[in-house]
Amino acid sequence: MTHVKLFIPGPSEVRDDILQAQTAPMMGHRSAECDALVGSVEGKLKQLFMTGNRVFILASSGSGLQEAAIRNGVRADRPVINFINGAFAQRWHEVTLGCGKQALRVDVPWGEPVLPETVDAALAALDGRCDAITVVHNETSTGVRSPVGEIAALVRSKYPDTLVFVDAVSSLAGDWIPVDEWQLDICLTSSQKALALPPGLAFAAVSDRTLARAKDVTGRGWYFDFLVLEKYLVKNTTPATPAISLLRAADRQLDHILAEGLDARVARHRRLAGMTQTWALERGFGLLAAEDFRSLTVTCVENSRGIDFAGLNRHLKQRGMTISNGYGDLKGKTFRIAHMGDVTDADMAELLAVMDEFLA
Ligand SMILES: Cc1ncc(COP(=O)(O)O)c(C=O)c1O
Repeated sequence: MTHVKLFIPGPSEVRDDILQAQTAPMMGHRSAECDALVGSVEGKLKQLFMTGNRVFILASSGSGLQEAAIRNGVRADRPVINFINGAFAQRWHEVTLGCGKQALRVDVPWGEPVLPETVDAALAALDGRCDAITVVHNETSTGVRSPVGEIAALVRSKYPDTLVFVDAVSSLAGDWIPVDEWQLDICLTSSQKALALPPGLAFAAVSDRTLARAKDVTGRGWYFDFLVLEKYLVKNTTPATPAISLLRAADRQLDHILAEGLDARVARHRRLAGMTQTWALERGFGLLAAEDFRSLTVTCVENSRGIDFAGLNRHLKQRGMTISNGYGDLKGKTFRIAHMGDVTDADMAELLAVMDEFLA
């Protein structure tokens, strides 16, 4: 099988030793060995999320935890506000509606960040009577990064009853997200993006405030019920059969991530984002996101030169690489280059050189 290296915003490339880690024989999930594995993974995730709170580990993708956040954190008689500046923020709104909650939407043009003043105005209009807000930290559809730390600080100081739920699916492990310092109530992510793991696991750091809220919420379901998950996690285990092979992969990959160091890992992502942005601007392309709000993990390039994107990607594939078209309405108008996970400076330089060959 020819390997086409992925520079798409997930799934990302997975190292060989991590792929190999999944091939170990199975074990019983009610064994001491499995408890040790769950405990080990959770311990390392706490370092990655920079939290002293629990980190739930689910056999699901990130969308499952978008749903879990809503099911656990929002009461029937209180609204939630979904701030929508891209496709995945829009998905969280659909998830909220699907859970039968009172979902208010605040739209922000795609390509722009959600700003604290926008959040302030929306919450003030409800007199703070709002159970939670949802914000996507890194909108993968547009390459925009919203200042969730500032947003959370504002909500904490002015609207103490409102929980702050953050989707960091395409940024955690590639960007600086100190969950406790920012006092995020839920910060969720998927395995297949900047963590550079196979798809199939989702992780969420969850605050005590969120667990306290869950006690007042009916209809939490069971698979994603935080109170059930907590009961098992304190014993280093899971209510349902965990994805053992993926946990083995996660345990080893978290060692790689922590050995690199979070500072160094974020610095590398920042450097790769800079290389990509410079490449685009120097060749006469635009960038969808304004300078202060550009993602560290995915760059959304405006196709201002009107190049044939399909032709570019065909050329890249012949050279063993691939990037992504724009998302939804942005298809054709933009294309996206991901620089997340374990991508090196050399990988990036090679990709950009092959794109130059096409432009030439
Ligand atoms: C920002 C963001 N949120 C949510 C999702 C959905 O995650 P998953 O596909 O893991 O369910 C994605 C997927 O690309 C995403 O980029």
